[in-house]
Amino acid sequence: MSIREILKMGDPRLLRIAQPVTQFDSDELHLLISDLLDTMLAAEGAGLAAPQIGVDLQLVIFGSNARNPRYPEAPVVPQTVLINPVITPLSQAEGDATLLEIDDWEGCLSVPGLRAIVPRFSRIRYTGFDQYGDPIDRTVEGFHARVVQHECDHLIGKLYPMRVRDFSRFGFTEVLFPGLDAPQDD
Ligand code: NI
Repeated sequence: MSIREILKMGDPRLLRIAQPVTQFDSDELHLLISDLLDTMLAAEGAGLAAPQIGVDLQLVIFGSNARNPRYPEAPVVPQTVLINPVITPLSQAEGDATLLEIDDWEGCLSVPGLRAIVPRFSRIRYTGFDQYGDPIDRTVEGFHARVVQHECDHLIGKLYPMRVRDFSRFGFTEVLFPGLDAPQDD
């Protein structure tokens, strides 16, 4: 178990298309997950993707089983290890083909000190596997859906600034939120 260096935007390793995990429940995989968790907790992140510590695999972690005392209003997202994920955007209701996007603030541990308004699908289904190879299949919305989309973007070489549409709402955290405990980095 150790805290690993988080790569910062500009590092070409953050731009790779990550490789699928083929071996589940291995010592190597458990060690990687333990390092990711230690690194995420140390940085007080909401999530972390393997490429952010230079590991070229389709693996992300996010969520926390405890409510964060710094953000008591933030919805609880269960602590999750998600491997080889597939995301499907969903409409709000059966028979409605419209995919709704919502804007909210995001940060990223690979883009320290900055925040932007990023559009994300409001409702998604995501599937994949946990570290034991057991399937995960969830339909989620809001903050949970946002965190999953942000983390899984790291697996296709996308950092949130690449999703920003309105650059007038992109800036330094300390300037955007003076004196406030700013929203978490993802
Ligand atoms: Ni990120």
